[in-house]
Amino acid sequence: MPLRILLTEDQIQTRIQELGAQIDADYPTGALHLVCILKGAYVFLADLARAIKRDTLVEFMGISSYGKGKTSSGEVKVTKDLDHSVEGANVLIVEDIVDSGVTLSYLMQVLRQRKPQSVNIAALLDKPERRLRPVEVKYVGFKIPDEFVVGYGLDYGEKYRNLRDVCVLEEGAGAP
Ligand code: IMP
Ligand code: MG
Repeated sequence: MPLRILLTEDQIQTRIQELGAQIDADYPTGALHLVCILKGAYVFLADLARAIKRDTLVEFMGISSYGKGKTSSGEVKVTKDLDHSVEGANVLIVEDIVDSGVTLSYLMQVLRQRKPQSVNIAALLDKPERRLRPVEVKYVGFKIPDEFVVGYGLDYGEKYRNLRDVCVLEEGAGAP
């Protein structure tokens, strides 16, 4: 079997409810912009946004750093920018996974220049062993070992995003 379940749908959903409650408690007032990083975070955003009970504004940002394979190209570029200004707002970046940290450290720098009241990160998954750039991730769903994972929005060559669980893509599994 090329896929091995690492986190089940139930585990993911339970954790997201906890994160939603924590975010509600941490942001009692003010505008909260959820910035979903395309494409991998779209499933997490859909569930996290509904686990948060306060008002939010949902935005999408496209960042590319990875290319088609399993390793980062090291280059980061914004492929789709926000539609609204975040000046004076609380910004919560919603990301699928923090790996080297290159993408998020770049993004934090870009968003901080726009003078928001605050910028924080919510990431479903964190692979701390792989970090090359320091990034402070305020809300982490799960810390996972250094293995390539797919499902729940995460892909390998655009495949597997629709899996309900997070699975490890075992060595030897072919890209589409
Ligand atoms: P970083 O800049 O190295 O932290 O890369 C983060 C991005 O790489 C994530 O937003 C994902 O799109 C992608 N990525 C990192 N690790 C994985 C993985 O295990 N599976 C799928 N995508 C990954
Ligand atoms: Mg991503």
